[in-house]
Amino acid sequence: MKKKILVTREIFPEVIERLAQHFALETNQEDRIFTQAELIAKLADKDGVFSTLSESISPAVVQACGQLKAICNMAVGYNNIDVAAATAAGIAVTNTPEVLNQTTADFGFALMMATARRVTESEQWLRAGKWDRWRYDGFMGVDVHGATLGIIGMGRIGQAIARRSMGFDMQVIYHNRSRLDPALEARANNARHVPRDELLRTADHVILVVPYSPALHHMIGAAEIALMKPSATLVNIARGGVVDDAALIAALKLGRIAGAGIDVFENEPAFNPDFLSLKNVVLTPHIASSSRNTRLAMANCAADNLIAALEGRRPPNLVNPAVLGGA
Ligand code: 8YV
Repeated sequence: MKKKILVTREIFPEVIERLAQHFALETNQEDRIFTQAELIAKLADKDGVFSTLSESISPAVVQACGQLKAICNMAVGYNNIDVAAATAAGIAVTNTPEVLNQTTADFGFALMMATARRVTESEQWLRAGKWDRWRYDGFMGVDVHGATLGIIGMGRIGQAIARRSMGFDMQVIYHNRSRLDPALEARANNARHVPRDELLRTADHVILVVPYSPALHHMIGAAEIALMKPSATLVNIARGGVVDDAALIAALKLGRIAGAGIDVFENEPAFNPDFLSLKNVVLTPHIASSSRNTRLAMANCAADNLIAALEGRRPPNLVNPAVLGGA
């Protein structure tokens, strides 16, 4: 008898085919967003779930789904899953690290450049038919080359962004829970570890790449933005909730900083509509990892984890090793 799994959202047909060789599948290729009650009802008889950030796997879901043995998220972040509840219930939780590092770093860098050089703002103006003459100060931006890049969260993606900055002759400062090994710092454009407030005060461009945790909720709010240079930009490719979006909007309205590039929002996709009234923002719908190769690799990585977990092997990207009784 094949084990039963739920795939919560539409995913690549080839990955569905692959999963079907191992499991009895319930899929959602029509891509409906399930309510919590529907999710619980669908998971009640399932051994595993292929999940995405769209589903909240709360303690209530875990407790109601007694057969569940594996929650395999197609994302590196897993703040949509209550890992403590899953662990207590003996359920393996997995994510998709590494495969998205370079694509996400590319996008972080692109968002920084688009924000600094006002790419979308000037395009919207051009599309609105307003371009009738050259101006000496037309959409003047702030330079990226030679600037100081401040990276908050110097994990694998942060380091990949730092490496990209070499070609732009940037200086890199970073803030992270712990200092990196000096050899890694050297590879990351000689990045220098500094206290967070020093980074905010000194950087010309700040990029947030921290994983979300309740302790980091609103780590960037009014007080932190007030430390930044008026010419600085802020890019968030981390998670909604890391930035206090209302405080950021208020600061951008007053021109407290030059601009922001935002790929992740509080309460997305129902983000704060006040962002739309701002000119000094570049807004994208949580697409930093979205190249075809990378999204396919993420889906296959989640599938690898699910197959291993339900076939009794240690999944390659287990985030709660305590579930196996150790590290
Ligand atoms: C995903 C992400 O697209 O991996 C993550 O944590 O934020 C994105 O790469 C998204 O999470 C899909 O579930």
